[in-house]
Amino acid sequence: MTEHSYEFTRAVTRKPSASIVDGLRAADIGTPDLDQMLKDHAHYVAILRETGAKVVELPALEAYPDAVFVEDTALCLPEGAVMMRPGAPSRAGEVDGMAPVLRDIYDDVLEISGPGFIEGGDILTTSKEILVGRSARTDAAGVAELQSLVDQWGYSVREVFTPEGVLHFKTDCSLLDAETILSTKRLDASGCFEGYNVIHTSDGEEAAANAIRFNQFVIMPAGFPKTSERLCAAGYDVREVNNTECAKLDGGMSCLSLRF
Ligand code: GLY
Repeated sequence: MTEHSYEFTRAVTRKPSASIVDGLRAADIGTPDLDQMLKDHAHYVAILRETGAKVVELPALEAYPDAVFVEDTALCLPEGAVMMRPGAPSRAGEVDGMAPVLRDIYDDVLEISGPGFIEGGDILTTSKEILVGRSARTDAAGVAELQSLVDQWGYSVREVFTPEGVLHFKTDCSLLDAETILSTKRLDASGCFEGYNVIHTSDGEEAAANAIRFNQFVIMPAGFPKTSERLCAAGYDVREVNNTECAKLDGGMSCLSLRF
């Protein structure tokens, strides 16, 4: 296992495309504005780069409206990458767009071949294990195949459950450091974080849970002042990025990059 699963030298992102207006969403709360999303995306990439990490920015993929959410296509570990098998049929082709990029970087790129499904947004890698939340996009067979693949690298996979109606496991939680998780109360109530320190999002600020620890920064969506204050008080160096447009597609900070 990696000692510090929040220290990264590289990230891969993909620019949002004009087809983002057709992205998947649980509820229609408005059409995403591409210009605003491009600005927010550039801000996000700039913060990743500020840490000294090298960021590969891939071009927009018009054929895949959700392709900006690259995290769902792969699990990147120090030893190699595992290409996912998205549970959303419209997103399956995104994996083919990402595989050659990761093959250029890694010697070992494995694949979830099915019949199960698994998306990266359901995977939280901590310093001691890989937590995978079953969801509408990730099933038991997908979790089992991931376990069988990463076993060779010494990882232990633990199956947990994403709350009903929540898109991905990491919609509701983030890793803050080796021992600490930021979580909504509803997810923490499942008991899945026993043995970790947990900081809860403030009531009414559940959407703040999808943050990322990326080297020295915790990058979180803007507009959640109580949770932000809580994280600052706990000693984290918080950076906020406007997420209004990605939020219309149930996307957030973790969805926008692959980090390794
Ligand atoms: N819009 C992101 C997703 O549903 O996968």
